[in-house]
Amino acid sequence: MNSSLATVAYIGATILFILSLGGLSNQETARRGNLYGMVGMALAVLATVFGPQVTAEGIPMIVGAMLVGAVIGLYAARKVQMTQMPELVALMHSMVGMAAVLVGYATYVDPEASKNLDSAAHAIHAMEIYIGIFIGAVTFSGSVAAFGKLSGRIGGSPLLLPGRHWLNLVGLLAVIYFGRLFLQAETLQDGMLPLFIMTAIALLFGIHMVMAIGGADMPVVVSMLNSYSGWAAAATGFMLSNDLLIVTGALVGSSGAILSYIMCNAMNRSFISVIAGGFGTTAAAPKAAGDAAEPVGEVNPILAAETAELLRDAKNVIVVPGYGMAVAQAQHTVFEITKHLREKGVNVRFGIHPVAGRMPGHMNVLLAEAKVPYDIVFEMDELNDDFPDTDVAIVIGANDIVNPAAQDDPTSPIAGMPVLEVWKARTSIVMKRSMASGYAGVDNPLFYKDNNRMLFGDAKKMLDEVLLALKA
Ligand code: TAP
Repeated sequence: MNSSLATVAYIGATILFILSLGGLSNQETARRGNLYGMVGMALAVLATVFGPQVTAEGIPMIVGAMLVGAVIGLYAARKVQMTQMPELVALMHSMVGMAAVLVGYATYVDPEASKNLDSAAHAIHAMEIYIGIFIGAVTFSGSVAAFGKLSGRIGGSPLLLPGRHWLNLVGLLAVIYFGRLFLQAETLQDGMLPLFIMTAIALLFGIHMVMAIGGADMPVVVSMLNSYSGWAAAATGFMLSNDLLIVTGALVGSSGAILSYIMCNAMNRSFISVIAGGFGTTAAAPKAAGDAAEPVGEVNPILAAETAELLRDAKNVIVVPGYGMAVAQAQHTVFEITKHLREKGVNVRFGIHPVAGRMPGHMNVLLAEAKVPYDIVFEMDELNDDFPDTDVAIVIGANDIVNPAAQDDPTSPIAGMPVLEVWKARTSIVMKRSMASGYAGVDNPLFYKDNNRMLFGDAKKMLDEVLLALKA
């Protein structure tokens, strides 16, 4: 493939990626968006492999690597549960970061890469390498730490080192200092030491940034690392002089940054604070399990048959799904119940919290899979005021996102996070297996409220029973 044909293919792939992002922004067009992305990626890979930058001897190596990658990808796609997706995504971001670091070092030691460059171009080339490796290393170690936190291998509570902002600042100044040494280096060997030191600082910075984030703020970190992985890819594009990689990386980087911003707003957190690594978490540092504000009172359990009765008699019902619905894979039964109630004239709507589940859009994906109509699925802000006029609010495997402590307890780790105000409904029913806390590890005073009932058990099993009772 000659270079003009490759350029045309790259432009085509870029357009498809933009259409893909546009499609993914809406549930109804998401499938099409995915398809555009897949076609665009196939085009991009073909144009790169058969393009002018790859020699005939390189092709077997690339094909071999692609086969290995495809086998691992297929295995992961079949094996990984829907509930493990966020960890998988974090792991994939770490790969992008590692690729940027490796490409950076390879480009630096490759004499061909800087041949025929005048001194200004040489400095720019060195800067690309330095910044590319920095972003890549932060993305890599941050994503590995996020993987550990999301998979429960590392505890969810924030690691708040004394003087941590000073540590970050000193690290940043050191990175700038060694950057200067790197740019001034006369020989390859001279440049290697500052590059190694900067990489080590960047790796530590990535870990520190993610470890300082408390449980409930993890979603912002996940989307932020998504953004970083985009910038890491763009940096790789600069190092490899690959325009498509630069554009694609910038698309991922900026859309991830926009998503992080939206999520920060949704969580009532400051964007800068989260980027700086848990800035502001001190005021709301989690309390040790023992001295958490103990909610008072007893919980009122309810049976599936009674739940069915309440639902049958209701005019307005709001369903609030959470992570537990994903664990139990209860979405199909939720759909059956919804269908049944709607046929009987009950107004059933769904309230989706922006961080429900473990990844952005988690609940929307599950409900769409179960064919719940889009027009009864609402975002938190769209129906939060409607709870006082709601007969039954049924919470399916959600916990943090319906925790009134976020509003009532300024010392709570989730203080300030907007929540779905289910306790304002005439009756709220919480479905979960035990009294265990949610992702943020905080107790939930909702469970003890007078108008709240607890339907204990696996969400799928209990909803099956509710459906059976409804149909009886
Ligand atoms: P959580 O607060 O994590 O609560 C989920 C609840 O589901 C648990 O209390 C659990 O209680 C219950 N559960 C688990 N398996 C169940 C099953 N099989 N049947 C019935 N119930 C089950 O979830 P949430 O309310 O959706 O809030 C999300 C949390 O995750 C937030 O803190 C958020 O910040 C965090 N987070 C979100 C994301 C994104 S991007 N969405 C990413 C990372 C972290 P039992 O064990 O008693 O059953």
